[in-house]
Amino acid sequence: MHDFTYKNSELYAEAVPVRKIAESVGTPLYVYSHNTFLRHFNAYRNAFDGQPHTICFALKANSNISILKLLAKNGCGADVVSGGELHLALKAGIPPEKIVYAGVGKTEQEIVQALRAGILMFNMESSDEMLAINEIAGRLKKKAPVALRVNPDIDPETHPYISTGLKESKFGIPIEEALEHYKLAGKLPHLEIRGIHKHIGSQITTIKPFVDSLQKVILLAKTLRSHGIAINYIDMGGGLGIPYNNEHPPHPSELSKAILPLLKGGNFNLILEPGRSIAGNAGIFVTRVLYLKKHLGSEPDQPEKMFVIIDGGMNDLIRPSLYNAYHNVLPVKQNNRRKVISDVVGPICESGDFLAKNRKLNTVSRGDLLAVMSAGAYGFTMSSNYNSRPRAAEVLVKGSKFYVVRERETYKDLIRGSKIPEFLK
Ligand code: LLP
Repeated sequence: MHDFTYKNSELYAEAVPVRKIAESVGTPLYVYSHNTFLRHFNAYRNAFDGQPHTICFALKANSNISILKLLAKNGCGADVVSGGELHLALKAGIPPEKIVYAGVGKTEQEIVQALRAGILMFNMESSDEMLAINEIAGRLKKKAPVALRVNPDIDPETHPYISTGLKESKFGIPIEEALEHYKLAGKLPHLEIRGIHKHIGSQITTIKPFVDSLQKVILLAKTLRSHGIAINYIDMGGGLGIPYNNEHPPHPSELSKAILPLLKGGNFNLILEPGRSIAGNAGIFVTRVLYLKKHLGSEPDQPEKMFVIIDGGMNDLIRPSLYNAYHNVLPVKQNNRRKVISDVVGPICESGDFLAKNRKLNTVSRGDLLAVMSAGAYGFTMSSNYNSRPRAAEVLVKGSKFYVVRERETYKDLIRGSKIPEFLK
């Protein structure tokens, strides 16, 4: 559920017409709803009420500092995967004891940064990393709180690029080798074992992969405890998938109903790292139609196709190009004009630059605004300056007010940090 709805055929973000924001801030831009973010976060919080838990929002989905502050103010923790994300989480006021740090390639500098900050735990992904964290913690005269990311070999049945829990993936340690790794970790003097981490993939729309993988992890936790290894935290990894099109993913309350019985009596602190299900449908990408171009079908019985050329492209929202992901495209002002099969394409010089393909859309005109829905997660965070395009602005709507929470980049930003060697001057 989200707060982008039509009133009198006009798309609103909460109580603000999207058109008004676009006219004031320009396009392309991201628009987020404060209410939706909060509702999604609270859905998790309420679902796991009664079970000791921490919800660690996955910053990779959306790391705008105002969004992070909004979540921090409401008690949210953070799942970070880089020094940059850790910096942002702390800057937003997320307490270090609610921050977990995953990722296969943490650098020495990042490990030092996290140790100094005093995070809840490192989710370690290899024995090499384990040795490095131990060594660095020793040097700093600290004990590093750690969990091992295990790979439970469960198919999340999602896109291969975002599926991480299968044997062939680069992530984690095969669950059957976990005991040996934990024994090694137990011998390292500067590590303090706190828990087990797993994450099997993203955009998971059924409960079963969560249950199956958690069962394996709980079994491992019991084995580890029988070897005297203290396991207090179970980190379940990312959250639920979201409806982009016709998917019907479960609600967090259904997830909790399925997994809380498995944890009962185990005396575990549960960590969840949802990103997409908190941010995805809390944001839209707003873009303006620049030009229209009609291609006649190559066969007489083939319908004509319309190219709707917009001012937003794959550099702004790469999910359709990268994963062939579906995002609904809606007119900001509804009309009853004839429906035409349309490709909604950007200005980037690549055939892969599309936001929607073969959609039946009501005819649009130059200057019309379109809303690309479900763009709040992995939208702006994956955007780039490709084709030297300044990155889009971000706006947060709360009730009848809207706030620019990141200004549109300027040409100055495109050369920030660049240097011209003497011989070229
Ligand atoms: N925790 C870990 C360790 C992760 O790797 C991820 C996502 C999450 C949590 C958050 O998962 P979520 O709740 O969002 O499903 N760029 C892709 C998604 C990549 C996800 C990577 N890891 C996309 O646009 O679909």
